[in-house]
Amino acid sequence: MAKVTIRDIGQMKAEGKKIPMVTAYDYTSACLADQAGIPILLVGDSLGMVVLGYESTVKVTIDDILHHTKAVVRGAKQALVVADMPFMTYHIDQSQALTNAARLIQEGGAQTVKLEGGENVADTVHRMVESGIPVMGHIGLTPQSINSFGGYRVQGRDREEAAKLLRDAKALEDAGAYAIVLELVPTPLAGLISRQLTVPTIGIGAGVECDGQVQVLHDMLGLFTDFVPRHAKQYAQLAESIKGAFAQYVQDVECGSFPTGKQSFGMDEAILEELTVLP
Ligand code: KIV
Repeated sequence: MAKVTIRDIGQMKAEGKKIPMVTAYDYTSACLADQAGIPILLVGDSLGMVVLGYESTVKVTIDDILHHTKAVVRGAKQALVVADMPFMTYHIDQSQALTNAARLIQEGGAQTVKLEGGENVADTVHRMVESGIPVMGHIGLTPQSINSFGGYRVQGRDREEAAKLLRDAKALEDAGAYAIVLELVPTPLAGLISRQLTVPTIGIGAGVECDGQVQVLHDMLGLFTDFVPRHAKQYAQLAESIKGAFAQYVQDVECGSFPTGKQSFGMDEAILEELTVLP
């Protein structure tokens, strides 16, 4: 099967097919998501929280994303790989933004990048797209600005914020973004934005009217237990299975029931006998 392209993603919207996307941060999870047929893998800066243990995504660096992108790219045989641009790696000026985006594509092997912001980043998005770097936008609750938002709350509930989100979405589309993540946006507003755009919207906490959905892998598999966001659906409870497996392992090692002959290796008895008679 051929690699998924940004054209395929646009085509899915045109044909009314919903677009599933999930985050991935390593080779194994990328292989599993890819084999399950998920067409887009996002190396999200959420890795700062679920992989690196930071309190927010703010401390994630371009080198962190690069490192994980390379692993995900090795596992993604078909899925489109999107690498997140971390906080302050595209704000200083366009040259900084292009340099960092190019690293994610050239060194990391991602097919596209994602960045947060609307009208404020539209010129940068335009410049990247012109240079051959496909960009996925991200508006609504943009976690890199958590210190400005002062909390993870739903965006666009009042008239002013709602109109601003619509302008942001259109600015990104006009700038050439091929898809836009809508995070923590009321369902009806996300629906309206989705209908007004020709490019697909990918929602997280933005309701069923978006063209696609994205989930953080650790949330949907029940791996991350510090907190479970309301927008997450747990399709598995892996934390419980893993803790159970670890506890069983501890017990087996302590009572000597692991390893058994099945996990061990023998050798020539004669050699062993020679050794035992050596002084
Ligand atoms: O970093 C991430 O996981 C994201 C998704 C929440 C869209 O940006």
